[in-house]
Amino acid sequence: MKFLVTGGAGFIGANFVEYMVNKYPEDEIINLDALTYAGNLETLKNVEDKPNYKFIKGDIADREFIFDLFEKEKPDVVVNFAAESHVDRSIEDPEIFVKTNVMGTTTLLDACVKYGIKRYHQVSTDEVYGDLPLDRPDLFFTESTPLHTSSPYSSSKASADLFVMAYGRTYGLPVTISRCSNNYGPYQFPEKLIPLIISRALNDETIPVYGTGENVRDWLHVYDHCVAIDMILRQGKEGEVYNIGGHNERTNLEVVKTVLRALNKPESLITYVTDRKGHDMRYAIDPTKMETELGWKPVYTFDTGIPQTIEWYLNNKDWWENIVSGEYQNYFQKMYVDKGRVEE
Ligand SMILES: NC(=O)c1ccc[n+]([C@@H]2O[C@H](COP(=O)([O-])OP(=O)(O)OC[C@H]3O[C@@H](n4cnc5c(N)ncnc54)[C@H](O)[C@@H]3O)[C@@H](O)[C@H]2O)c1
Repeated sequence: MKFLVTGGAGFIGANFVEYMVNKYPEDEIINLDALTYAGNLETLKNVEDKPNYKFIKGDIADREFIFDLFEKEKPDVVVNFAAESHVDRSIEDPEIFVKTNVMGTTTLLDACVKYGIKRYHQVSTDEVYGDLPLDRPDLFFTESTPLHTSSPYSSSKASADLFVMAYGRTYGLPVTISRCSNNYGPYQFPEKLIPLIISRALNDETIPVYGTGENVRDWLHVYDHCVAIDMILRQGKEGEVYNIGGHNERTNLEVVKTVLRALNKPESLITYVTDRKGHDMRYAIDPTKMETELGWKPVYTFDTGIPQTIEWYLNNKDWWENIVSGEYQNYFQKMYVDKGRVEE
């Protein structure tokens, strides 16, 4: 089988590419990524020379490029991770979120209709459900919770999901969608909460916390997310949505304190900053469908995943220091263009 994985130089996409390349040496994995600020090919060092892996630089919203790519490669399966993914950036500049997250998705869907594929999988987010009140711990997002978005980011992801379902129904495209809670683990860009805490605390820098830090997020280790997507691709039913989460709800303040404790750093590093506009209060996934229909169960709890993640960041300082310094942006030029692996 030939898999086209889009956004495979980002945090979750790269973890997924590495997982697939190693687990299925008989399959071919093409990683298509535009290498925006969030794309980092250094993340894929461990697989870049494997015979079943190939990187292609390109934009999912570039129709001519995408149709040419499908004509040439004829993928069997498309897994779309490519997205603008940072809520704060979406508040500053919503338009690029519409272009990549919505129009990029419809471009891929059109190519899938034209060239015929065995499966199109859309990697979505629990943020499409909006948020839950803090005083109702009994409530969880299920696959039938209505879409009720808050930010330009979540609105663009919900729009994409609606197009995916429409292409399934209207054109008979074999589609699936997964909606996952907040991920953490190796290779996460240091602007996101957990790597931000680790990288700043190690330098004894202040840790910004929005508002009072009471917002609750449901944390899932990226490895468990990758396993879940693999299961959906192989056993999931066409036209279905699957929620992925591991019942690891923590307030943002609890997350910060847990990481500071593990690093032996003082809580005095915490600095409260003005809250994000429209900040969602609580996300909490009900993963019953994944567990009962596909037999998925996360390997990590928050208490085992956090030490593993901290250890990874401590052992891979070069990786995130290159991001903080901006050096990672030269990796594509140095390792791919200069070495003649791809044409720019
Ligand atoms: N990070 C989370 O906690 C989380 C949780 C649930 C769902 N998701 C979803 O999972 C997916 C991956 O998230 P992530 O955290 O790895 O994101 P990320 O920002 O780390 O990576 C996104 C990748 O997409 C690439 N990209 C951006 N625009 C592109 C375009 N127009 N064409 C081709 N490539 C492009 C970037 O270069 C980058 O490599 C996203 O769709 C996101 O909405 C993320």
